[in-house]
Amino acid sequence: MNESNEKAAMPRHIAIIMDGNGRWAEKSGKIRVKGHEAGAQTVDRIVSLCAEIGVEVLTLYAFSSENWQRPALEVAALMRLLRHYLKRETKRLIEQGIRLHAIGRLDRLEPKVRKELEEACQKTAAGKKMTLNLAISYGGRDEICDAVQTLCRKVQSGELECDAIDDELLTAHLDTATLPDPDIMIRTGGEYRISNFLLWQLAYTELYFSDTLWPDFAKAELMQIIDNFQRRERRFGRVLN
Ligand code: FPP
Repeated sequence: MNESNEKAAMPRHIAIIMDGNGRWAEKSGKIRVKGHEAGAQTVDRIVSLCAEIGVEVLTLYAFSSENWQRPALEVAALMRLLRHYLKRETKRLIEQGIRLHAIGRLDRLEPKVRKELEEACQKTAAGKKMTLNLAISYGGRDEICDAVQTLCRKVQSGELECDAIDDELLTAHLDTATLPDPDIMIRTGGEYRISNFLLWQLAYTELYFSDTLWPDFAKAELMQIIDNFQRRERRFGRVLN
């Protein structure tokens, strides 16, 4: 809460880089996949919490375009975890009014994974409380390239004037076109990088880097980050009176 009597605004959109699963597992002598499994449980808790406290959009970086280069066994385990999540959680997402949305190059997913993801998105489409936006096979540079290609095709076909391309139009051609920009971006796991996450959308986002490994990330820390966000002055490049 801020110092005035006004109720501070809840961030509309929180985006999270869920880093540190591998190190969490290795610390206790387990294989990396165990860390991802524990990370999936943190996903359950943080999704429910964000919906409860009135966040409109939660974007989770579940699998980056670069993650395809990890050992095949780890990639398979991450895909299995995603499928388990969809199977286990779709009913609960519907009950909680959470709409599932996915961004990224979904055409790279195995057809059965893609189908299950699309089905879960359809089944939860009426959810009004929160959008859970999963970034899967996602890279910010890929997303911008895809948008630029679409715009170029429109220019080539005569549907669009080159000079009409501006911030708003490019934004409207991104995977996140229907979503507001993130207010807060959190990266757990102690690294200070953006790692190709929402490169365009993070332009004026407040950034938080936490040393906590994702499986250990819990309610108290998220609430602390939100409290800190509510005390920050966001100027969006302007001077405030
Ligand atoms: C980064 O940790 C995390 C990932 C690449 C995968 C994130 C996946 C999950 C949290 C579980 C599945 C997700 C859903 C939505 C069910 P890392 O492996 O890079 O950790 P490290 O830096 O310690 O090695």
